[in-house]
Amino acid sequence: MSNTPKRALAAFTGGISNGEYGLGPEDIVVMERGQGCHLWDTTGREYLDFSMAWGSCLVGHARPEVVEAVTRQAPLGSNFAFLNAQVLELAEEIQSVSPAAERLRFCASGTEATMYCQRVARGYTGRRKILKFEGAYHGANETGVTSLFPNKMLDFPTPELTSAGTPHVADLLLVAPYNDLATTRAIIDEHKDDIAAVIMEPLQRCTPPLEGFLEGVRALCTDNDILLIFDEVVTGFRLAYGGAQEYYGVIPDLIAYGKAMGGGYPIGAFGGRADIMEMVNEQRIGGNDYVWMASTLGGNPVSCAAALAALSVYRQPATYERLHAMGRMLRSGMADILEKRQITGQIIGDGPLAQVVFTDQPAINYRGTCKGDKQRGRATMLALLRKGVFLNPMGTKLYLSIAHDEAVIGEFLGRFDEALGEATGSV
Ligand SMILES: Cc1ncc(COP(=O)(O)O)c(C=O)c1O
Repeated sequence: MSNTPKRALAAFTGGISNGEYGLGPEDIVVMERGQGCHLWDTTGREYLDFSMAWGSCLVGHARPEVVEAVTRQAPLGSNFAFLNAQVLELAEEIQSVSPAAERLRFCASGTEATMYCQRVARGYTGRRKILKFEGAYHGANETGVTSLFPNKMLDFPTPELTSAGTPHVADLLLVAPYNDLATTRAIIDEHKDDIAAVIMEPLQRCTPPLEGFLEGVRALCTDNDILLIFDEVVTGFRLAYGGAQEYYGVIPDLIAYGKAMGGGYPIGAFGGRADIMEMVNEQRIGGNDYVWMASTLGGNPVSCAAALAALSVYRQPATYERLHAMGRMLRSGMADILEKRQITGQIIGDGPLAQVVFTDQPAINYRGTCKGDKQRGRATMLALLRKGVFLNPMGTKLYLSIAHDEAVIGEFLGRFDEALGEATGSV
């Protein structure tokens, strides 16, 4: 047996360099290269990639346009921590498709982007609290990691800590059930004078908004002078070129981007109405209406060159028709297999995203989806990993990319069928 797991366990807590996965030593491998929707580890084993670097490689691994753009920029300097041609062009491109982003700032990750949106909202409104929806992830900042995987099912709007080390968040956060406008309204009615912003993933994980939900939250925010933050770190440039704003037709006051925009390179950006974004204008430093924002790596020309190349690929004709068609093929294929095996469950998702949940209850929010058999979900994902499908078995969310085609999805479905058989003992 190779000494890789031993080395990884000696170097990284849990043997993993960047979090999640939760693998035992027997499943630890080291990736060597990626091409399209395939990965190869250092032993030469090939994987079908259904994680795509947690969705950041929507453009596909080593997409030639992205490689070329990065190769062109790298010898010209990797970072100036200042305005450069690439970040300017990228900001203008985002503005052209993102009505919410009248002004922008760049950082290096989605976590930072959503953190800044919240801070700006608190600074602008002078209020302390943020309302999030249970089960939503907004990155590794305090809001993102609270009531993320709750199991106590406390009464709303009480937050449940998912991460130790975040005790103060309980005073700063309210939690509502996604897709439940009545409960959200009741919480806002009671706490409106304290709430700076509502932050949401418009498509929460893989759960689509019910008709009227996003519009309802938008109206509640407008009526109560609360800012609406869309975390489009996942949905941006993925559900449509204009992201969730375009796809659902609802415009927030502040917006966060990351992942797919960077073509696999480190990136984050946030934007909003010009008057709100004035809060980060350094001319205000010293006054009590200034919100601190600074990022050493934000807007570096290599990441921005990669992003401009990725965006040019997304703009090619029929990209989104195809991404949606591949997503439908994946979801309906997985659903057919559940049915064939008579396994209780459903496949949720939209666009190039899919997730299996082992429940027949309505999976319209966290409490609905978590009625599913989590052990079975993890066992299925681990079985898939062992069959050469690369994914993150901490959850059951799957990401497609532009590089996935019918043949790859067909191959995946065969392995899903077998994995499900093994995980449920219905071989
Ligand atoms: C919806 C959402 N927001 C924010 C983030 C955080 O992005 P990053 O990991 O780049 O900090 C993620 C990451 O998975 C995410 O899914």
